[in-house]
Amino acid sequence: MVNQFIITIDGTSSTGKSTIAKRIAKKIGYVYIDSGAMYRALTYYSIQKNIISKSFFKKDLLINALPSIKINFIKNPISKNLEVNLNGNFIEDKIRSLLVSDFVSELAKLEDVRSYMVKIQHSLGNKKGIVMDGRDIGTVVFPNAEYKFYLDASSKLRAKRRYDELIKENKEITFNEVFENICSRDEIDINRSNSPLKKASDAILIDTENLNLDQVENKILKYLNFSNLNT
Ligand code: DC
Repeated sequence: MVNQFIITIDGTSSTGKSTIAKRIAKKIGYVYIDSGAMYRALTYYSIQKNIISKSFFKKDLLINALPSIKINFIKNPISKNLEVNLNGNFIEDKIRSLLVSDFVSELAKLEDVRSYMVKIQHSLGNKKGIVMDGRDIGTVVFPNAEYKFYLDASSKLRAKRRYDELIKENKEITFNEVFENICSRDEIDINRSNSPLKKASDAILIDTENLNLDQVENKILKYLNFSNLNT
């Protein structure tokens, strides 16, 4: 077991943050927390409860409901993975749809939503030994994290990678839909007034444009330089 630190991985949409964070956590025996899944879970809840749609967003209804909504991470007995859980239900398979992706950044703009999430994220990190990925993890959630990384690549390439993944999963989607969703989420995430997406000044920037997942993973492991790892 290596020392217990907090490792943050932030960056633009579809840079492979989750895949990399999961791999690194597995390698070093840390817990992996996908903070985007928390915002997606709340978005899924809002769609189900008719709080958000293409024509309306009842923000007050959502804010008033927050204290009664339980979002946490629990080991799913079927997948055996630590998964996001919404009010007692595993919903990992429901939160990756384009509909959820289309609304999630609008919800993530709200100050009450962000402070609700940060509270949960702090409790998840209180024992350290975690890798958490997201948009504001190194800047706002864990500004004193021992290791911070920021991943980026061109929007075209990120959309291409995401599109290829969705096609592999037999999703009916066009490249343009994926590209537009990524660009619009980046735009909202970077320009919002509450905890905007930006690289922490002390984060290590990794441009993944010409790197595959193995190369990104190796780069991060090199920075971590945990001597007792079997890499
Ligand atoms: O990581 P992801 O693409 O699943 O995240 C979905 C959205 O959630 C993202 O577009 C912005 C929001 N998000 C956020 O605002 N802060 C985080 N720490 C993680 C995600």
